[in-house]
Amino acid sequence: MRVCEGTLGRILSYDRRLRGTLQGTRFSCPLLLLLLSPTDPGDLMRILILGGDGYLGWPTAMHFSAQGHEVAVVDNYLRRRIARDEDMEPLLQDPNLHDRAQRWKAHSGRDIDVWIRDLATPEACGEVMAAFQPDVVVHYAEQPSAPYSMIRADAARLTLGNNLGVTLNMILAVREHCPDAHIIKLGTMGEYGTPNVDIPEGWFDLEYNGRTDRALFPRQAGSLYHTTKIMDTDLLWYYVRMWGLRVTDLMQGPVYGLVTYENEGIEDLLPAFAYDEIFGTVVNRFVVQAVAGYPLTVYGKGGQTRGYLNLKDTLNCLRLAAENPADKGELRIFNQLTETFSVNDLASKVKTVGDSLGMNVEVKQIENPRKEKEEHYYNPAHTGLLELGLEPHFLTDERVAEMLEFVAKYRDRIAEHRIFRGVKWA
Ligand SMILES: NC(=O)c1ccc[n+]([C@@H]2O[C@H](COP(=O)([O-])OP(=O)(O)OC[C@H]3O[C@@H](n4cnc5c(N)ncnc54)[C@H](O)[C@@H]3O)[C@@H](O)[C@H]2O)c1
Repeated sequence: MRVCEGTLGRILSYDRRLRGTLQGTRFSCPLLLLLLSPTDPGDLMRILILGGDGYLGWPTAMHFSAQGHEVAVVDNYLRRRIARDEDMEPLLQDPNLHDRAQRWKAHSGRDIDVWIRDLATPEACGEVMAAFQPDVVVHYAEQPSAPYSMIRADAARLTLGNNLGVTLNMILAVREHCPDAHIIKLGTMGEYGTPNVDIPEGWFDLEYNGRTDRALFPRQAGSLYHTTKIMDTDLLWYYVRMWGLRVTDLMQGPVYGLVTYENEGIEDLLPAFAYDEIFGTVVNRFVVQAVAGYPLTVYGKGGQTRGYLNLKDTLNCLRLAAENPADKGELRIFNQLTETFSVNDLASKVKTVGDSLGMNVEVKQIENPRKEKEEHYYNPAHTGLLELGLEPHFLTDERVAEMLEFVAKYRDRIAEHRIFRGVKWA
């Protein structure tokens, strides 16, 4: 790992307890931020974030930057283009990546290097990797919407080609330009589907005809998008075996929230907040629906259960994975969630809290446009990140109230026609 020099903050060293305290600190003074870099200088890394303009990518970039790491972001605005073309624009203003980096510099005094490139183009991917020489590559740069992947044939082709293309280009570029880099890839809990048995963290011990082996747990996706994530994992596992790459694959559940340590109270640092059916995740959508006075859209029986996490926990998981890298030749898998809920649980939580705030929330079961089990067993293991030190932010009533109150400030920006479109799976 390279040691970056040049600021007072980077020559100060702090113990881990102090770092923990600083995780929750909101920095508004650039000098203070420089002084309080919560990472030992010897631990500083060069972190390249693929998909750095996204809902998760931008907060992740600021979070690593606030720790004192050298951060670069790459994006080709694919999500913005799809959102515009499908009339699914996010709730809040969406400054471009250069503007975001300038605003972050004004708030923190820190630089984030911006590259506007299509990573599905091998030359562009190689160019960035060769120039930046990352210690860590965070790979978010995919078309992340299950409904979009099911909407039409052209969207299916885009999703498959883009997601696998970026993953392959990244692998080849890492091997060529920075073979020791730690790849942190965002997978999804949707890779496992909803099996009628417990879900381990990626790997399981297999016994068949009296013989045993260790294998990737069987995966069975519920959409084309999720299928591309399974294929990503298979590609990574293949090249880990062939070339000894160092990979962490984070099987993440749906994320909710938009306030993080770095953007609290600073609207122009918030990420894009989608509330539509294409890009919005269910908690975010329900919160916006409640504020808009739109009945919460529960698909079918509403027993669909998944593992969820707060955006702040995504950042902490990424930080923990980066600080504790996988070994060379290892495909390490963590299930990235903090608690499980059914859709009915979520709807009733949002209704209870919304009603207490005088919102008079209605919940409506509608015909399920997807093909999925509406009642099923669900028990995923998720101890790996806790063992690394993750301290979850659970979805308490207070957190739901905070989200409702936050979104209520932007009530007049909600476009009702974006809330539900009914993209069918069949
Ligand atoms: N948000 C969630 O709840 C969630 C849950 C599980 C997994 N994930 C995974 O996390 C990752 C990030 O999700 P997100 O919600 O931030 O999505 P997002 O769409 O907001 O961010 C992805 C970013 O990648 C960019 N991108 C896509 N293809 C690109 C390309 N060819 N070249 C350059 N940039 C490209 C997009 O423009 C976008 O800004 C995705 O891989 C997604 O599958 C997200």
